[in-house]
Amino acid sequence: GDEDDLESRPPVVTVMGHVDHGKTRLLDTLRKSNVAGKEAGGITQAIGAYQVETEVDSNERAITFIDTPGHEAFTAMRARGAKSTDIAVLVVAADDGVMPQTIEALNHAKAADVPVVVAVNKIDKESADPTRVRGQLSEFGLVPEEYGGDTQFIDVSAATGQGLDELLEAIVLTADAALDLRANPDMPAQGVAIEAHLDKGRGPVATVLVHRGTLRIGDSIVAGSAHGRVRALISDTGETLEQAEPSRPVQVLGLTSVPGAGDNVLVVDDDRMARQIADKRA
Ligand code: GTP
Ligand code: NA
Ligand code: MG
Repeated sequence: GDEDDLESRPPVVTVMGHVDHGKTRLLDTLRKSNVAGKEAGGITQAIGAYQVETEVDSNERAITFIDTPGHEAFTAMRARGAKSTDIAVLVVAADDGVMPQTIEALNHAKAADVPVVVAVNKIDKESADPTRVRGQLSEFGLVPEEYGGDTQFIDVSAATGQGLDELLEAIVLTADAALDLRANPDMPAQGVAIEAHLDKGRGPVATVLVHRGTLRIGDSIVAGSAHGRVRALISDTGETLEQAEPSRPVQVLGLTSVPGAGDNVLVVDDDRMARQIADKRA
């Protein structure tokens, strides 16, 4: 593979916003799953990453979503999410309006220099005031297109599904208009560990977002100061995969220790080299 054998890849979208404004439920509704309902105390503790298929102008399009926790204690994690991000979706509950973590999330997106699409959520609620949200965010430089600005605001309800097609369309349009989303799939994979933990039965498990190249079973990898050989790849829907292409989030089994969230992941020639590089970093 040559460095400039570039193919288009799905956009990576980080979903950010104040605690309980509906980030996880929004992704649940898009995926027809129920992560939010299973979370302890309804609080997102770990970054989740999912791929959603949608049809825009009768083209099948994939979008990769990264869910982030709204709680203040996770500021660093949210910043890390923003680093692998092409587009930020800022979720603001229309009944609550702009809150401290809304602004913090917005600042992360600005610092990462990624375009922002605003999802004005919970518009099914009687107390929803989407106009107020538009006014509030305008003061922070996110001026809605309908007010002459260049930010798309989409009214949605994660509860009813209202507006979600428009949100996906806005994301795809933003990706097509503003970004050059291409990567070479024909090279050893490089990516980032967006979350990692020790599983009792399976050992170290890292959720890896592949940035470029293709990650395959049997690859020798380094992840921060961890290393190993890829034993299994598991998709966000629990399917085992043979390989993961650019923008595809995947759980990687086979590391000998748990990498740090945010650590770079790369495929190297063989196990010996993987161990040498990892040891140098430890
Ligand atoms: P953190 O991860 O803790 O920051 O929260 P979150 O932003 O992921 O919010 P979550 O999806 O956990 O939703 C918080 C609460 O709001 C839950 O009780 C959801 O059911 C509820 N909720 C989310 N979206 C909507 C919506 O569109 N309408 C209504 N009525 N409730 C919603
Ligand atoms: Na929550
Ligand atoms: Mg959540």
